[in-house]
Parts: sequence; C-alpha cells; structure tokens
Amino acid sequence: MLTHRLEAIRMSAAAGAEARGLDPSRPLTDADRDFLRKAWREHLVLVVRGVADLSAAAQMDFCRVFGEIGARARPAETRHEPDGAPAEVMYVSNKRENGRVIGSIPDGEMEWHIDQSYMANPAKGTCLYAIEVPREGGDTMFGNLYQAWETLPDDLRRAVEGRKVVNAYGHGGYGIQTRDANDPRAATRSHAHPIVATHPDTGRKLLYVNRLMSLRVEGLPEDESDELLFRLFDHAENPEFRFTHKWKQGDLLLWDNRCTIHARADFDKTQTRHLRRFSIRGDAVT
Ligand code: SIN
Repeated sequence: MLTHRLEAIRMSAAAGAEARGLDPSRPLTDADRDFLRKAWREHLVLVVRGVADLSAAAQMDFCRVFGEIGARARPAETRHEPDGAPAEVMYVSNKRENGRVIGSIPDGEMEWHIDQSYMANPAKGTCLYAIEVPREGGDTMFGNLYQAWETLPDDLRRAVEGRKVVNAYGHGGYGIQTRDANDPRAATRSHAHPIVATHPDTGRKLLYVNRLMSLRVEGLPEDESDELLFRLFDHAENPEFRFTHKWKQGDLLLWDNRCTIHARADFDKTQTRHLRRFSIRGDAVT
C-alpha cells in the first residue's frame, strides 16, 4: 500500500480546499482517510485535480471514505442513465445519445439549493467527477451556511429561532432551475426542517434555507413567510460566503451538503458538460 503525503490547500476564505498528493484510484491508508475527513469538515468542499480516467467504482470508493453511497432520489422510471450504469449513479450531463440526453439537470443555470432538502434525510455529501466540461461557464458556486448563520442580523435570528421551513421538490428538469411553489410535485415531495440547524459532526450552527427549494416557513402567513425567506436567501447568497469552482476535466469534487448551498452558472449548451455524480447517505437535519 502506498503512503501519500497529503496536503489541503485552501481555495477561498469561505470554503474549498484542494487535496494534493492524492491518487483516488489507489488504496488509501487509514491516515489518508482521517486526513480527508478532517479536511472536509474544515473546508466543506474538497477538490482533487487532474484525476485521469477515474472509474465509477473508484469514485464510489472515494465517497465511502465519508459515508455510505446514497440511493438515487429520482424514481427509477425517470432515470436517463445508460444501461449498465451503477444504480446509484446520476450523470449531470447534457450529452446526448440517439438524440436523448443521457443524464439529469443537463443545461443552464441552477439556483442556490441544498441537494435533496425536500427529503427527510437529505444527502450528507455530493461528489462530482468531471469527464467533459465546456471551455467556459458552468461553474459551480458554493455558499458557507455556517457563515450565513454567524453573520445573521439579530432581528432575523429572532424571527427564525425555533422555526421550520418546508422544502419542496419543485423544479423542472430543463432550462433555468427556479423556485416554483405551484409545481404540483411540491405537495408530494416535501419536508420541513429546522431553519437553524446543527452540523452533526462539528456541532456548529448553520442557516438551513435555499432559494430553489425552501417554500414556506411553518406557522407564518404566506406574505410574512415570503418576506422572511427572501431576506434569508439574499443573506445566505452573500458573495463573501462563497467559493466558485471553475471546472477542468479530471476534477473530483465533494461538498458537504449539510452546511453548504450550491448553484450553477450558465454555459453554452452547444458544448458538452458531462459529470458523474454520487451522493452520500445522510440523516435527519436537527
Ligand atoms: C447539482 O446541483 O447537483 C449539480 C451542480 C452542477 O451541475 O454544477
């Protein structure tokens, strides 16, 4: 077994570190695993650059350092992945085969969100591997929700303390992904989580809201709930809490979905953007 000299190089004040000295296609030592878990807790987003030809199996092994691989949130009959792909994989892709997109959320911008925040147990983390990326655009931005809580003005703190927000699956599969409170799926796939949540590993408080999926604050009239939520979204999306990842082919990236929001910038849809995604199984938000 090889021993690697790992380093975590901070990429922004808010979040993100590049893990250097790691070859995810080779076995990791226990010390490597501990190093990676600690770096992930500290930096929220880890990036390994220049990983050539990473297999789906090796990507799953990398994910297992952080937890168990999660099942796909989408029902099997709506999947677009090619036959033979692992059941848990999702391709974030605009690649087409026989005129059909072979992945999910293919084109365009995506609003700030927390993966699976409409479920009782949202993913703990999400891992993307860049197989093909556009020449420019399609960046993924991450927001640090610890910082969002820590800097929240007192009046907003008082307004959210002890309250829950209903998050719903209400965005379409194509084009700009935006909040849609009238989407009928919002009624069937939704879950209420505490707005002020505590990270299970670090014990730190964070602001658990996201513009794409947070629909209403429980116990408030609709207009008050909307006003409060839009102030919270604007605050959480402050550029100062943000890390922007510009994709290169061979990037392997993992974010902590319990304490970050993320969004995607637009890109030229005539260019291919093809990423392989796995999620890590999570627990209830408390
Ligand atoms: C996602 O939200 O899971 C996809 C993000 C991206 O395409 O950059």
